[in-house]
This record gives sequence, C-alpha cells and structure tokens, in this order.
Amino acid sequence: MRIFETQDGSHSILSEKYGVSYHSKYGAIQETQHVFIDAALRPKALSQKGISILGIGFGTGLNAFMTYLEAEKYQWKINYVGIEAFPISIEEAHQLNYPETLNQPNKAADFLKMHESNWSELVDFSDYFKLEKRKMLFQEIDFQNQFDVIYFDAFAPTAQPELWEPTIMQKMYNALKKDGILVTYCAKGVVKRTLKGVGFVVESLKGPPGKREMTRAIKK
Ligand SMILES: C[S@@+](CC[C@H](N)C(=O)[O-])C[C@H]1O[C@@H](n2cnc3c(N)ncnc32)[C@H](O)[C@@H]1O
Repeated sequence: MRIFETQDGSHSILSEKYGVSYHSKYGAIQETQHVFIDAALRPKALSQKGISILGIGFGTGLNAFMTYLEAEKYQWKINYVGIEAFPISIEEAHQLNYPETLNQPNKAADFLKMHESNWSELVDFSDYFKLEKRKMLFQEIDFQNQFDVIYFDAFAPTAQPELWEPTIMQKMYNALKKDGILVTYCAKGVVKRTLKGVGFVVESLKGPPGKREMTRAIKK
C-alpha cells in the first residue's frame, strides 16, 4: 500500500519511484504546520494583505489544503499555484484522511475538489482562497517576481539531487518578489550554501518534530 499513517495520525504516501515518503514519518500535518504555515505563511500574512504562494509540488494537496483552512480561519486572501508533474490518482486522494484528522469533515468535498480541478485553471474555493494547479516539471518554471512565499517541498536531495541544484534555486529566487520567503524542511549545509549562492539571505530555524532544523531563505 502506498498510503501509510505518520506518527501524528495523518496519512502520507510512499513514492515507489524514489523510495521516499511525501512527508515526515513523524507527522505529515505537524510538518506542514511547522515548516510551511508557521515559518512562512503566518509571518507574511501578518505583515501584508493578499499573499501569493508557489507550492513545489502539489503532491497529496496537504500543503494547499492546510493553507486554505488558514485562509478561511483568519480571512487571509491567498492565491496558491501548485506545481506537480506526477499527480496522485483521484482514488488515492479519496483515501487520504486529512479532512478528518484536521477536524474539518465539512471541508472533505473541497479537499477532493482540489484534486479534481482542472490543470491551469484558477479555481475559487472561497472569497479568500484560489488555487491553480499547473502540471509541469519544476525544471520548466519561469516565473518572475510573482510570489510572496514558496513552499519548497521537493523530495530530499538524496532522492532527487537535481531539484536542489543552483539552476532550480535560481528559478525559485526569480519567482519570488522582493522580501519573498522560501521555506524547506531540508537543513543540509550544501542546500543552504546553494540558496546563499543564488542571492538568498538564509536562516536556520528549529525543525518540526523529529528534525533538529529547517531552512528559511529571504529574497532581499
Ligand atoms: C515531497 S512531495 C510533495 C508533498 C506535497 N507538498 C504534499 O503536501 O503532499 C514531492 C512532489 O514533487 C513531485 N515531483 C517530483 N519530481 C518532480 C519534477 N521534476 N517536477 C514536478 N514535480 C515533481 C512528486 O510527484 C511529489 O508530488
């Protein structure tokens, strides 16, 4: 079975191709909350009105779904672009337990709608949250000064080293607006050096449960 339960009770998926999981085995929901929501979305949303987010990659949709819940809760206006080249199946999306585990059973239909919505179409989920999924390779990204936040959630450098190279990080830098924030669960020295090398100001933050550190990079 590709779907398994992480230590906080939320599901994740094992990638058979890369032999790694989509989230931390210590807790998928906890990881998304700590790395992406608390370290990037929250500080940005508290300092400005209207946030645009680039999600690398869309995967199970957990990052997008939890961001949508935050947008509803705090009435933050968020535009979310989720990039994914190898989407999970609708059948798999149906099996994921995120709406129940997050105590949002009434949002289960919206979670599925995220998976079922068309590619390259901006879909309104509410007055606060809009989602556009793009089916493309990260290597094809060519956004310029467009996003306030990047959730850099690629598989680890051990599994996909090509996604942590300077060429990709340069694309991430270009895609952000000035003062934009990129966050990643990865705290490897070589990744931090690559981020610095393309121009980011880099800081190490306390990691989510089970991980000592994570990385936040700002485009100054
Ligand atoms: C760590 S998982 C993303 C987890 C996701 N944020 C979530 O909430 O489930 C990495 C994702 O990157 C996708 N991926 C891997 N290589 C890619 C590439 N070169 N271009 C686009 N997507 C890619 C995988 O299919 C997978 O969905």
